Amino acid sequence: MQPKSKLMKQRKFKIGATVTTCYFSCQFSYLKKLVPIEHTVLLTDQHVYKAHASLFKGWNTIVLKAGESYKIQPTVDAVIEQLTKLKADRQTWLIGVGGGVITDLAGYIGAIYMRGIKVGFVPTTLLAMVDAALGGKNGIDHGTYKNLVGTIRQPAFLLYDTKFLKTLPEKEWKNGFAEIIKHAVCFKPNLFRALEKNNLSYYQKNKRAIESLIEKNAWIKLSTVQQDETEQGMRSILNFGHTLGHAIEMVYEVSHGEAISLGMVAAATISSKLNGFMDATRLQLLLAQYGLPTVASYDLTKLMRVMEMDKKKTGKKVRYILLEKIGKKKELFAGLINTLEEIRVRQSLMYADLSLDFSTYDEKFFNAIDILLHMNFGGKGADVIAFYLYDRLNGDGTINPLIVNGQHEVKLTNPYDLWNFLCQVNPKLDE
Ligand SMILES: NC(=O)c1ccc[n+]([C@@H]2O[C@H](COP(=O)([O-])OP(=O)(O)OC[C@H]3O[C@@H](n4cnc5c(N)ncnc54)[C@H](O)[C@@H]3O)[C@@H](O)[C@H]2O)c1
Ligand SMILES: [Zn+2]
Repeated sequence: MQPKSKLMKQRKFKIGATVTTCYFSCQFSYLKKLVPIEHTVLLTDQHVYKAHASLFKGWNTIVLKAGESYKIQPTVDAVIEQLTKLKADRQTWLIGVGGGVITDLAGYIGAIYMRGIKVGFVPTTLLAMVDAALGGKNGIDHGTYKNLVGTIRQPAFLLYDTKFLKTLPEKEWKNGFAEIIKHAVCFKPNLFRALEKNNLSYYQKNKRAIESLIEKNAWIKLSTVQQDETEQGMRSILNFGHTLGHAIEMVYEVSHGEAISLGMVAAATISSKLNGFMDATRLQLLLAQYGLPTVASYDLTKLMRVMEMDKKKTGKKVRYILLEKIGKKKELFAGLINTLEEIRVRQSLMYADLSLDFSTYDEKFFNAIDILLHMNFGGKGADVIAFYLYDRLNGDGTINPLIVNGQHEVKLTNPYDLWNFLCQVNPKLDE
């Protein structure tokens, strides 16, 4: 029998009705103690299988082609086909051994095969260890929709063996660190400081350090999910940097980590404009320290269009997570109507995006928009006015003539028209 590693830590988490056990600092061989080998099927991908072939000896293993493009229904069908050939039944365990693509697939197939069989994960990328394999979300992509189909179902256990990381490409390390930095900036000032003191190669070389970092980050993700399994509030903080990040990922050839790194920089810049967040530069430096991009010239108008399209397609509102301090998020504009949030963010994004020339628009102009958003004109809700404004704000920063309501009409041929108009409505503004 395999001796239990001295360092192994067993931690149980209750999420909803399920108890999930995490085996940190564990060895893959310990899997034999967790599941009966004859009633278990491992699901992995070619890269993981090739790099760690000896570990799979003796196990029924289904090996998939690697990559996001295989996280689709035909793969699910093919796996189900193989499971039936292997005579998998309700007693069978399905264990996903791989990155987020594999754990998403294994979680989903395990949830639907025979209306649900037992599932465990052995995450093999840093991203899967600290993020993707945790929280119970699983599923597949459909057409251009990412993660459109899936369930929320917690695995019975996660086994962490950092020897998998020895073969992990550098790019995938960086992807993992993007999420780790996100956790730190959203929740843990101490962790943020610790990351500032080290760098990627320190964690790559130091087994103890990476194990402890993974455990901390898994805990952050799990405890966030524990408080909010179905993403009503807390869990949405994990989307920090992801609103713009997802759009960047769709439009440009960048990895998820690179995209959310840029998304976090934008979100931090917005946070500093709207919430007085002081550490945007520190965040930017930390991301760069871990090899992640922090500046890029992207076409913001195109990205806004993607976000709007995505919103229309999925029916989900675009939400922006902003920070007040490192480790402290701002309430999501509680009480403000969503349209208002959007225009404020849009305005700040434009302001933040240095690739656009806003030199003709000064603070006064932006203040005017801000005030406009908080005013209520002649019985019409500010949301309606904001909507008009939103509609007329062109991607190049110009504003089309704007009808505010039946009584007041203002043609905006330059930014100061708006200011002048507001001063007419409320002369005190210009004092
Ligand atoms: N369910 C969730 O809550 C959640 C959260 C975040 C991301 N995700 C999903 O996770 C996926 C991204 O995860 P990922 O970055 O782990 O992707 P991935 O599974 O595609 O892995 C990235 C690459 O690394 C290879 N690889 C994996 N482990 C390796 C190892 N030990 N050595 C060498 N190569 C290895 C893979 O074959 C692949 O080529 C996306 O599909 C995303 O939607 C899910
Ligand atoms: Zn992410």
